[in-house]
Amino acid sequence: MTLTPQWLDELRSRITLSTLIGRHVKVQRAGREYKACCPFHNEKTPSFTINDEKGFYHCFGCGAHGDAIRFMTDHQGLGFMDAVKELASEAGMAVPAPDPRAAQAAVARASLHDVCQAAQDWFAAQLGSALGEQARAYLKARGLTAETIQRFGIGFAPDSRTGIKSALGSINEDLLIEAGLLIKVDDKPSYDRFRGRIMIPIRDPRGRVIAFGGRILGQGEPKYLNSPDTPLFDKGRTLYNLHLAAPASRQSGRVVVVEGYMDVIALAQAGFGECVAPLGTALTEHQIERLWKMVDRPLLCFDGDGAGQKAAMRAASRALPLLRPGLSLGFVSLPAGQDPDDLVRASGPGAFTACIDRATGLLDHLWTHELNAAPLTSPEARAGLKARLNAHADTIADGDIKALYRREIGQRFSDMFFGARQPQTPGAAFRPGAKGQKGWQRRDEPVPPSEELREFSRQPMSDLILRGVLHGVLHRPALLMRHSEALSEFVGLAEGWADLLDAMLDASHAHSIQPDDAAETLDTARLMTILQDKGMADTIDRLKSGGRPPFSFCTAVQAEKDEAREIRIAGDFAEAIEVMTTRPRLVAALSEVTRRFEADLAENDSGDGLFLEQQQLRARKQQFDQRLIELTERSA
Ligand code: UTP
Ligand code: MN
Repeated sequence: MTLTPQWLDELRSRITLSTLIGRHVKVQRAGREYKACCPFHNEKTPSFTINDEKGFYHCFGCGAHGDAIRFMTDHQGLGFMDAVKELASEAGMAVPAPDPRAAQAAVARASLHDVCQAAQDWFAAQLGSALGEQARAYLKARGLTAETIQRFGIGFAPDSRTGIKSALGSINEDLLIEAGLLIKVDDKPSYDRFRGRIMIPIRDPRGRVIAFGGRILGQGEPKYLNSPDTPLFDKGRTLYNLHLAAPASRQSGRVVVVEGYMDVIALAQAGFGECVAPLGTALTEHQIERLWKMVDRPLLCFDGDGAGQKAAMRAASRALPLLRPGLSLGFVSLPAGQDPDDLVRASGPGAFTACIDRATGLLDHLWTHELNAAPLTSPEARAGLKARLNAHADTIADGDIKALYRREIGQRFSDMFFGARQPQTPGAAFRPGAKGQKGWQRRDEPVPPSEELREFSRQPMSDLILRGVLHGVLHRPALLMRHSEALSEFVGLAEGWADLLDAMLDASHAHSIQPDDAAETLDTARLMTILQDKGMADTIDRLKSGGRPPFSFCTAVQAEKDEAREIRIAGDFAEAIEVMTTRPRLVAALSEVTRRFEADLAENDSGDGLFLEQQQLRARKQQFDQRLIELTERSA
């Protein structure tokens, strides 16, 4: 399709730019021009001007500049052709379609769009009808407001095989099948694809309905049923909520990719309009490129479970070959066991902002992932780590970036195992990346440890953390449920406390599978009763008489529950568990190196390399203990 410059000029002249922009920001006349607060950056006093005669806008603040088409591509996030089509339909102009086959396809697509829109109207009406009562109650129970339901066009497909079929009976059946609304097998009569489901319309970047995701009410399989790929809908090229997220991202400068529809919707309701989700598949190259059109560093916020972490790694691998200067990905981790929807509902928008602010970079993500993939107790294992990291780097197509990744990997690797080349502040070297992963940055002014802390730091650390974690579980049994998987690995290592930890895990397990108790939360009193029944009273006394380790999670929940504090505490607990997992590996590596070092010395070898390695490991262990101390400092 060729668009002549004359045709484009005609299009521009028929659009009143101030009216177009005026739909998104408030514009005010100023002489022959209009003024507004710039829609491309955040500002309080207007430095954005619109000249209708020339058909241009210009921002004196951020330099944004362009015409109506540019506004549609840059502000609305549309592709060039979509922008032109959108403006043409507004200006009442037909976009020239020279190729008759393309024209035919365009007509067919147009009618499929109409079918989808008609279906959405009907689903929305059903949600409001008597049939939709249960669905309305479900949405309400999930905390969705009427306004959110309206904004996202959520509807309901009643549990019938002939609901949409008869409601849209005037539309050609083949079209309904092609749109994915009806299923037809052989010569049997066609029937409704979506039955008894909450209907979430999926829209294209221009906001037109192209498909649906249908969620079952409550439990059941499959949880979501999606439209099949159709001439309108290609899962790998669609991002849910892109049409609203693109303009929102201009304001916030962020785009966040989450896993589910409901996450996007709940986040939008909590004030984060800039979120999108893939459609239940791994992020494709096309989707990554689409995200980079909006921002340089889209943030991936996948669930903390195994599946979410796998999806994040797959996205990272997909992105590496595509990296170009200035473009990257960020990774947001959530408290274990919570998806973004759970998080904002339980802890409010601030908790999500806090997670976003701690996003790590792509290289940090690879590093942490590979570091945790296997223990590093032998030289071969460490060489394996380096090889895996370099293999990632080698998939980068951009030569400069590849070289920089390789250099950074080499540097980090030698810092970690052979001593830093440059003098480093203790504690700083641990940080997996420049931005600091989880708030472990060293403070500017190191706080001298209190006497109490000094005493505690003389105790073997592993015991201190372990006792801290046990105290934490007694005060906040929910933490036990959330981290039971990680904790169960420690039963064998929990010297002196194995029985108690085992009993706790048992209680949590029994509680989570016993339907009778489902309504009751496992609170401290209940957990205590269970543990006493298991004969743990003496062990608990021993735990208590050993004193309360100075971690935030060892303090009791305050009578007036302070949500923000509880979130911080849950974060501290998760970090303590991480320290608990990594520190023993470090200790093992250190003792192995020390053994080899001593053996080398006995053979009259100088052992220089091993000496350095030992020093380095020792420093790293110290840094780790420092990390723990900082954790205790935050206990106040
Ligand atoms: P989730 O199960 O994490 O979605 O699946 P969610 O939005 O958090 O679901 P609920 O409603 O809160 O329980 C993530 C995404 O994977 C796809 C959907 O796109 C979903 O939003 N999915 C999931 C499917 O396509 N089919 C399924 O059966 C499950
Ligand atoms: Mn969810």
